[in-house]
Amino acid sequence: MSYPDNLARLVDDYLGGLAYGEDGTISPLADAMQYSLLAGGKRIRPALLMASAEAFGREPAELLPTAAALEMIHTYSLIHDDLPAFDDDDLRRGMPTSHIRFGESVAILAGDALFAEAFRLICERQEAEPALLLEVVKEIAIATGVKGMVGGQYLDVSGNAGGTSEDLRLLHTLKTGRLIMACVHCGGLLAQAPEKELTNLRGFAAELGLLFQIKDDILDVVGETALLGKQAGTDARLERHTYVSVFGLESAERLALESRERALTALGRVGGKTDALAGITNYIYDRHQ
Ligand code: IPE
Ligand code: IPE
Ligand code: MG
Ligand code: MG
Ligand code: MG
Repeated sequence: MSYPDNLARLVDDYLGGLAYGEDGTISPLADAMQYSLLAGGKRIRPALLMASAEAFGREPAELLPTAAALEMIHTYSLIHDDLPAFDDDDLRRGMPTSHIRFGESVAILAGDALFAEAFRLICERQEAEPALLLEVVKEIAIATGVKGMVGGQYLDVSGNAGGTSEDLRLLHTLKTGRLIMACVHCGGLLAQAPEKELTNLRGFAAELGLLFQIKDDILDVVGETALLGKQAGTDARLERHTYVSVFGLESAERLALESRERALTALGRVGGKTDALAGITNYIYDRHQ
């Protein structure tokens, strides 16, 4: 069970073909959006959406508008995360960050635009019953709002998250896990998986999101900048609470292993064809980038 590269390639091609209806004077903004979006990236979120839908019999290519939208939202979060007011990073996906390349105001707007255009893409292009589409849009809005990614980013940058294991779990669940859960949930929704299976998918995704961010924390310490495509050591520089700063490297690695086992056990409860989801889980654990 390896990473479903075919799904990542599908979304890469689709993202490459997107245009934003820009005219001449606004087109540099669209260039800034494409710069970050097409810089690479593992495409884990769209792959999760499509793999979850495929598990319940829906053709992955039919979900490309939503898959691309999720990657656009993730990319917006990276552009803003790298800003001087946040993590002040100058390297992302192996390239200078958006604010280094285009200046801060354009970087902020490129992020804002990616977020809004993502919702437009789903509304205009995703084929689904209107009620189902509304569920998808609502799930993504919740996952990216105060009870999701933005709330988590707030806890992270404000230092308001404490250093207990519960505090860390909440921080990671919100800042990273909630969007990952939305990807898996929306895949199930768009495949019209039964309610019980949506619950099973969410159980799996909750653990996967945690695993993802524990691993991200570990890579910040042991990873190589050249491979990561982003500067290692940022968390220590900013004195952030991470699984490594709180538990130490060895324990963080053990917790990641345990988290992968729990994710795979939870995936075992999902009734569909889950090979690709298992492949993504193993990849998230084994990755060096
Ligand atoms: C990095 O996400 C940001 C976090 C949520 C921790 P990824 O590791 O998925 O980054 P890309 O998309 O591959 O660049
Ligand atoms: C970023 O977390 C999470 C979001 C962008 C929502 P990090 O700050 O740990 O991500 P990296 O390590 O810079 O990719
Ligand atoms: Mg950050
Ligand atoms: Mg960061
Ligand atoms: Mg990180």
